[in-house]
Amino acid sequence: RKDLLGLRQLTPEEINLILDTAVPMKEIIGRKIKKTPTLRGRSMVTLFYENSTRTRASFELAAKFLSADTIGLAASGSSVAKGESLRDTGLTLTAMGVDVVVMRHPASGAAEYLAKCIPAAVINAGDGTHEHPTQALLDLFTIREKKGSLAGLKVAIVGDILHSRVARSNIWGLSKLGAEVRVAGPSTLLPPELEQLGVKVFTEVEAALEGVDVVNVLRIQLERQQQGLFPTLREYSRLFGINQKRLQLTAPDALIMHPGPMNRGVEIDPQVAYGSRSVINEQVTNGVAVRMALLYLLTGGEYHALAH
Ligand code: CP
Repeated sequence: RKDLLGLRQLTPEEINLILDTAVPMKEIIGRKIKKTPTLRGRSMVTLFYENSTRTRASFELAAKFLSADTIGLAASGSSVAKGESLRDTGLTLTAMGVDVVVMRHPASGAAEYLAKCIPAAVINAGDGTHEHPTQALLDLFTIREKKGSLAGLKVAIVGDILHSRVARSNIWGLSKLGAEVRVAGPSTLLPPELEQLGVKVFTEVEAALEGVDVVNVLRIQLERQQQGLFPTLREYSRLFGINQKRLQLTAPDALIMHPGPMNRGVEIDPQVAYGSRSVINEQVTNGVAVRMALLYLLTGGEYHALAH
């Protein structure tokens, strides 16, 4: 494959190849001197039309740990602010010899569009409400590392599913690797197509949490709410917030995950977020390893490993 646009397109074998490749990458992160020459001579641009802390920083670190050359462009500081189109921006970067463009964009489908316009590899770092494949890959990696395998696990995704590209990519990835996926949220934040994706849908969080092995708590995306928020944050917290009491409904060794950034005290109680079952910080570390693996597979020695 030239690009990583979403998990919908990937086979279980391709997903497992990325996760397997991330295992030795994580060992590099654990070393005192993290740099390896693997991608020397390669280059990566992060092109972000939306804000980010984790995704952008971890891609830039991942590339640096593998000795690729990197630059970061934010839409506000580039010629995008003067009206330059996405296609022309991509072609300009390609003319400079860039091998990989990592892009976040508010429009669903923007990554696919860019991938068709330019010969460089495009990695989707989140497009609208469509997909956030690298977040889902790091989530899968974290679960697999803790539980050994995804097959047969019960995973609850709780929160603002309607606006969540993280939820969509997780649903594709978890289902392809054999997990049972439950989604829970207020009916106002559940998209209509969920049943067709083969997931179990709950409008009461307690029923969704019963006996699950993993709870992935999503952020309420205030910036994407078109009209007034219903339920309100206070109502949401009372009805769906993951707190110590609700945690007792899960399997005793259930993992608590959150892609970040968190609205602490809204969708997740601080005692849960920083409690013994939380793997939220490990998700962040694993994000660097998974992004190193992707950069390696798309531009490195095994470029054709992801090709059909
Ligand atoms: N999880 C995630 O995408 O975080 P950022 O918005 O900080 O990149």
